[in-house]
Amino acid sequence: MERVTQPSVLIDNIGELVTNDASHDGSPYGLVANAAVLVIDGVVAWVGASGKAPHADDVTRIDADGRAVMPGFVDSHGHLVFAGDRAHEFAARMAGQPYTAGGIASTVSATRAATDDELERNVLRLIGESNASGTTTVECKSGYGLSVHDEQRALRIAGLHADETTYLGAHVIPVEFKERPDDYVALVVGEMLEACAPYATWIDVFCDRGAFDGDQAREILRAGMAVGLKPRIHANQLQHGPGVQIAVEVGAASADHVTHVNEDDIAALAASTTVATLLPGAEFSTRAPYPDARRLLDAGVTVALAADCNPGSSYTTNMPFCIAVAVRDMKMTPSEAMWSATAGGAAALQRTDIGSLRVGTRANLTMLNAPTHIHLAYRPGVPLVGGVWRDGVRLR
Ligand code: NIG
Ligand code: FE
Repeated sequence: MERVTQPSVLIDNIGELVTNDASHDGSPYGLVANAAVLVIDGVVAWVGASGKAPHADDVTRIDADGRAVMPGFVDSHGHLVFAGDRAHEFAARMAGQPYTAGGIASTVSATRAATDDELERNVLRLIGESNASGTTTVECKSGYGLSVHDEQRALRIAGLHADETTYLGAHVIPVEFKERPDDYVALVVGEMLEACAPYATWIDVFCDRGAFDGDQAREILRAGMAVGLKPRIHANQLQHGPGVQIAVEVGAASADHVTHVNEDDIAALAASTTVATLLPGAEFSTRAPYPDARRLLDAGVTVALAADCNPGSSYTTNMPFCIAVAVRDMKMTPSEAMWSATAGGAAALQRTDIGSLRVGTRANLTMLNAPTHIHLAYRPGVPLVGGVWRDGVRLR
């Protein structure tokens, strides 16, 4: 096979390089002052002191002029295949209505009625937004089709552009199955799973009030695992429930939301390899209490941050926004939040090639128009992303 080569890139004169590689400074963030990064063929070839990079042929040199450079954000939780929006539902919530899983049904109707082309253009629009705010990896779930045809279609379209795809046929029970939920679960673990598994790496279930109970969640995750999908779960978002314990029991890569948890849940997560993925956009946009990130971190749980982009509970693709909220309202430090949005997301997707910058990792980098990563939270709402590279190719 012909080897495709890409131009080499040297980013020099970096004021603060975040590597998430503890070998540099003994901290998980691996900060290097006055640094440079050399990228060859889309991967990190060298990391070191500014002005000291080894020679490389045909290199494009970029002067960071003292700015911070960090790994691109890894957004490990998104629902990008949908049509329509729910702006009026959001406005009603801000006027006092509660959020319920019931709103999902309106997006299901709009999504089923949309053409493939409309759905693909929406995915591209959202991934474009993500890239513009520094994200270089996105996970994308199905879950607004809820029929064999529409779930498979969602995953096929997601797979064209997202880095990771997740089968979420078990988002809610669709209206046509309201009176016979057991039949829907049978479909999710039967014909729908068979149609969707070739297009997905992961299986997910929304285990919560108004969605699926613990027994259903277990059955669905186990069925996916039996055909080679890896488990992750929407757990404990709207109320306390069995989701987090099920995540640990099945060895899920991640339990997502983790808003309503008790000491047993936290101890189980801390003793497991399951990452707690916190989604502050959802609490922000549903005016719900935030998850207690501090309690999770202090107990030794690995925490990821993700945007949870979806038209109902969190219509944002912006990871710097999530970081700012996590720092301000979830008691994370700026460095912890940055780590959770990069290396944490990679851990939640069980990926070692992204989320950190070391020799051999993919050259997914974000340059900030700021001297340190702390500015991500310190300057909330300011578009600080000044450069984004994915596999060494400059996206902006
Ligand atoms: O992750 N929690 C379940 N699913 C989405 C919300 C979906 C919707 O409201 O459309 C979430 O927040
Ligand atoms: Fe979600």
